[in-house]
Amino acid sequence: MTTDEIRQKFLEFFERNGHKVVPSSSLMPDDPSVLFTTAGMQQFKPYYTGAADPIKDFGSKNIASCQKCVRTSDIDSVGDESHLTFFEMLGNFSFGGYGKKEAIQLGYDFIVKELGLEISSVSIFKGDSETPADEESEKIWQEIGMKRIIKGKREDNFWGPTGNEGPCGPTTEIYIKNIDGKEIEIWNIVFNEYYKDCNGRYKKIPLGIDTGMGLERLVMILQKKTSVYGIDIFERLMGYLKEKTYNANERIIRIIADHLRAAVFMIADGFLPSNTEAGYVLRRILRRVIGQVKLIGLSDKFFIDCVKIIGDIYQSVYPEIKRNEAEIITVINNESEKFGRALEAGIKEFKKEDLKNVTGEKAFYYYQTFGLPIDIIKDLASGNVDEKGFIEEFKKHQEISRAGAEKKFGGHGLALDTGEIKALNEEEIKQVTKYHTATHLLHAALRKVLGDKNISQRGSDITAERLRFDFSFPRKLTEEEKKKIEDLVNEMIKMNLSVKKEEMPYEEAIKSGALAFFKGKYPSIVSVYTIYNPENNEVFSKEICGGPHVNETGEIGQIKILKEESSSAGVRRIKAA
Ligand code: SER
Repeated sequence: MTTDEIRQKFLEFFERNGHKVVPSSSLMPDDPSVLFTTAGMQQFKPYYTGAADPIKDFGSKNIASCQKCVRTSDIDSVGDESHLTFFEMLGNFSFGGYGKKEAIQLGYDFIVKELGLEISSVSIFKGDSETPADEESEKIWQEIGMKRIIKGKREDNFWGPTGNEGPCGPTTEIYIKNIDGKEIEIWNIVFNEYYKDCNGRYKKIPLGIDTGMGLERLVMILQKKTSVYGIDIFERLMGYLKEKTYNANERIIRIIADHLRAAVFMIADGFLPSNTEAGYVLRRILRRVIGQVKLIGLSDKFFIDCVKIIGDIYQSVYPEIKRNEAEIITVINNESEKFGRALEAGIKEFKKEDLKNVTGEKAFYYYQTFGLPIDIIKDLASGNVDEKGFIEEFKKHQEISRAGAEKKFGGHGLALDTGEIKALNEEEIKQVTKYHTATHLLHAALRKVLGDKNISQRGSDITAERLRFDFSFPRKLTEEEKKKIEDLVNEMIKMNLSVKKEEMPYEEAIKSGALAFFKGKYPSIVSVYTIYNPENNEVFSKEICGGPHVNETGEIGQIKILKEESSSAGVRRIKAA
């Protein structure tokens, strides 16, 4: 059976047994306390607590689904035989429709009778000081005739809540032996009988059923493969990767396959790379792949091919990938371009040193100077990398910059702080607003004078006294270039052009040519600021931006470039007042 057939078989089995099949929800959860959808039950949270009525919404108390999930807690295990960042979770759920006995029986019937597999063992919750042992489940398994019933601790046999509060409860897990004899956890049946509140207290709620079975793992067992990367759904992608990477190390190929698949699904559901939260996770996994791709020396066409392959594989089940194909490719290529130049410089430097044992300090140096992520440093090093030491350095550095910020602003509350722009009071807000629009003009002028393709924004920092703008460029600017740039900005200021603000969907903004500098997850509707020059009938500057900006460029007055210097490898920094 193929993955598609097995997914179908599961849903049909539960439909036959009185369940309503509900489509997967987005990877982007409604629940703000979690970064990603990590389980099938997440979209059903309100039904366990009685906050929503399943009969009204689904016409049934029993539901089955196949849910797109992303989990990063085991990201370091990705590439082994069974761990994936993105995976599909098969699940059946009941909100008062049935109890433990039926839930366990249904699981048993599907595995043993429907699929013809043998359960090697099961586990149940042994109880602790917080909640009692799940004796009922133990009895049910004994009655079924299960020989090996293992009693597990809270960390293995108690699930949830997702986020900081919600339904949770004891679990019973089903294990099956893989073709190579290894026991694999295949199905997790959760009995949501508690609600854990944000103070950590457990309150009893009416029993609800929540089960989750990793589709790729189940397929691995049914297709008699020793790894999830060997199943049919990975075949085309793994084959392509093997060919393109000249048979790189198997684990590296698996990581590329896993991370790319996860990134593609994330972007299709609206995530964008950024420096915080979910966006940072996406950036990190993308950069891991980009790093490998650069190491091997592949062009960006590689990403286009991979996105197409992944889209083809999932076309019938998750058409959103094909639908958003162009957008996904743009996001990945943008990230690759942004990251690529500094990375190449860093890799060159790193290879020169041929570091065997990389200290935390050294790793941090490469991270800070070249933007090399720790994962890439690990891939590059021929020996040990002190990751713990790296994290310590990272924290130390964060504390230093935080202390610097506090000193600067004397611990006062800021009137405006967008990350990019900081102002203490109304007066300063006026100043930084001018500097902000001046930054857009400067960005556009750099692209016009030095060539669009050469310039991408790397950072921007604005105070009431000056603007500071970092951009990718491989060398020092000449005096002539600096003068040209400064003159062009001042010309646009003199013309007193109006700064137009529009709201539009992110995709439309990108298509219309607006520049985007990823500093956070973009909402689906974004603001775009356009400065249009009627004299030559040209858009001078167009950027996706949160503002604030002046209404007319004349308000800025005039700018002067104070300094042009190196910020890090391949990145230049301009300060202007
Ligand atoms: N919520 C449980 C899990 O994610 C079962 O679906 O494992």
